[in-house]
Amino acid sequence: MEEIEKVRGILLERYATLTVKADVLKAPELKQILAKIREVPAEQRAAYGREVNNLREELQAKIAAEVKEVVELPPIDVTAPMDVNAGIPDLLPSSNGSQHPITKEIAYMSDILQRMGFRVYESREIDNQYHMFESLNFPKDHPARDDYDTFMTVEEDKDGSRFIAPAHTSTMQNRILRELKPQLEDGDVIAATSIDRVFRNEDLDARHEHTFYQHEGIYVSKGVNAGMLVATLQKFLEEYFGKKIEVRVNPFYFPFTEPSFEFSLTCPFCEGEDKTCKVCSGEGWIELLGCGMIHPKVLRAADIDPEVYTGFAWGGGVERLIMMKYGIEDLRHFESAKLDFLRQF
Ligand code: DAH
Repeated sequence: MEEIEKVRGILLERYATLTVKADVLKAPELKQILAKIREVPAEQRAAYGREVNNLREELQAKIAAEVKEVVELPPIDVTAPMDVNAGIPDLLPSSNGSQHPITKEIAYMSDILQRMGFRVYESREIDNQYHMFESLNFPKDHPARDDYDTFMTVEEDKDGSRFIAPAHTSTMQNRILRELKPQLEDGDVIAATSIDRVFRNEDLDARHEHTFYQHEGIYVSKGVNAGMLVATLQKFLEEYFGKKIEVRVNPFYFPFTEPSFEFSLTCPFCEGEDKTCKVCSGEGWIELLGCGMIHPKVLRAADIDPEVYTGFAWGGGVERLIMMKYGIEDLRHFESAKLDFLRQF
């Protein structure tokens, strides 16, 4: 019996870490005690068997409760909001229209960054491999290219490489650096942002879309350090969420920054106070975006001398920020064109 109690402890602990909760029923420890029912002496067998079954039922009930919770979330209807076979759809009068929440929030983010001194750039929806990879220090055949599930055209440029639908807004870094280099040489800084649409060949779910938005920032001057990066991001996010947040950085890897960091902040929704918070899964912290000190090779690719100038850059998802700010649980709402969602903004 003590043994069953021990297995119970192990399994409950593992349960908390499992993504597919039902896998707990396949645990070897559970199989072992089930198999053992046959071996225990006849007079103890009934009691032993009952205990093991109780444990199995306890786990099954836990799984069922969890599944029920998921099923009870309102399903996301992704069908067209109008009858697509009806000829001319019954459109709203334009006086009833409003800006899409993403458009509104991007304008707000750009406005904050502009007030912080960042020049706003539009990115592109079709680009080349040089801007997606080479200029960002992803050499040809580098495995990190595979991290970006990039859509490519069949058509090729004059060097025989396919065009791409940008998988991140970092594609703008080389262009921005080149364009603003003269002002750097005039003693000014480079501070620019690009908030725009990017594309990845993703499996779709509540957190992933093939088409989404990113915000990118880039800052170059003399004597730039990582503390300035952290302070800039913290200010931007505090302004966006309208409240104080704590931030932390952990080491990470990107080819175009050295050192690279993963940037996290305290959950602006529950502020770490709610163990059942859906935004941060009760963790209190959210890993938000990638950032780092611009790699010397990236500066050199734009003819900027890394011995003289240093800089920082960041990039992250836009919808993620909007979802956190408003407690939106499913990314697919944004593209659903459903008025009852859109009218809330
Ligand atoms: N481009 C990266 C991505 O989409 C994010 C990123 C990380 C952008 C670090 C940056 C950076 O500018 O410095 O995964």
